[in-house]
Amino acid sequence: EKGGFEHFMLKEIFEQPSVMQDVMRGRIHLEDNTLHLGGVKDHLEKLRKAKRIIICACGTSWHAGLIGEYLIEEFARIPVEVDYASEFRYRTPIISPDDVVMVISQSGETADTLAALRMAKEKGALVMGICNVVGSTIARETTCGMYTHAGPEIGVASTKAFTAQVIVLYMLALALSIGRTIKDEEIALYLKELSEAPQKAASIIAQHADIRAIAKVYKDARNFLYLGRGFNFPVALEGALKLKEISYIHAEGYPAAEMKHGPIALIDKDMPVIFIATRDSTYTKILSNIEEVRTRKGKIIAIATEGDQEISNLADHVIYIPYAAAPVTPLLTVIPLQLLSYYIATERGCNVDRPRNLAKSVTVE
Ligand code: F6R
Repeated sequence: EKGGFEHFMLKEIFEQPSVMQDVMRGRIHLEDNTLHLGGVKDHLEKLRKAKRIIICACGTSWHAGLIGEYLIEEFARIPVEVDYASEFRYRTPIISPDDVVMVISQSGETADTLAALRMAKEKGALVMGICNVVGSTIARETTCGMYTHAGPEIGVASTKAFTAQVIVLYMLALALSIGRTIKDEEIALYLKELSEAPQKAASIIAQHADIRAIAKVYKDARNFLYLGRGFNFPVALEGALKLKEISYIHAEGYPAAEMKHGPIALIDKDMPVIFIATRDSTYTKILSNIEEVRTRKGKIIAIATEGDQEISNLADHVIYIPYAAAPVTPLLTVIPLQLLSYYIATERGCNVDRPRNLAKSVTVE
């Protein structure tokens, strides 16, 4: 059932191009640049008029939520807040009936996320869910929502469910924007960019042997730092989480510009730093962060856009990804980070599908 793969996690990473297509199937229509989001269509007006959208989730789903914040604010210009479900439920949050509370959960059973949803519902907010498991408790208790259609995720570390969540959020953000906050040509462009993601993802996965070679170099590192900005800041957090949970190496993700405010003190020759440095509006800022790490002899692994020569002079290793519009890049940049974690963990002999101390679904708080 692992389809010839050594672990479910690797199978699920490799499945992502086809999962991406499954998530979009029937929902995006390139012939007339429309979106058909069945699970939310009756509530779309209410969603568009929301005074605020509050996203609640845990772990990897929370990282997807952060990307959702950037996407919804960028496209739909609706204020978004992202909260850990466990914090939200215990901090007497301010929720009013013109708020929308959106919960994101692969399993649809996470105790804190479910409690956050119940609390929001009680306060009269419209509750929306993004779940992978069909018929799960969260899916049943939300008023509207969308399934991620990623198929069963068996590996404890979430991979394909994350990319599917990000695609759902991207489609939703566009659906909230049409005829309102962005021009028709932009909708057409962003839909086209999204539809090209699966094929680009496949070309990244095809570089697995090169990524494995990098993993062999760093498998004994004690710490890792992951840095990214904008849409790729949450990807830095996700890359660090993936490494921690399956390889037991301490890793932290930060917005790249925060490096100066503390983490730079940690940098020496034994600190590998992973930079997500795709070509977008903050590229030159990231380059100067890379230079700062280089001056302090940190090891640099960069995720960069194909054709970027400049970065190869600065980084110790570069993993290239095809060019994509900035809002699409998280779907691509996360893949080399998943693969790097997977190969580092397997090189260290870790049981990647069943990491110690972790459960696939956290149904107790
Ligand atoms: C990380 C991971 C966890 C889950 C978290 C939420 O790889 O799997 O951090 O993302 O426990 O789970 P769901 O999405 O099922 O609510």
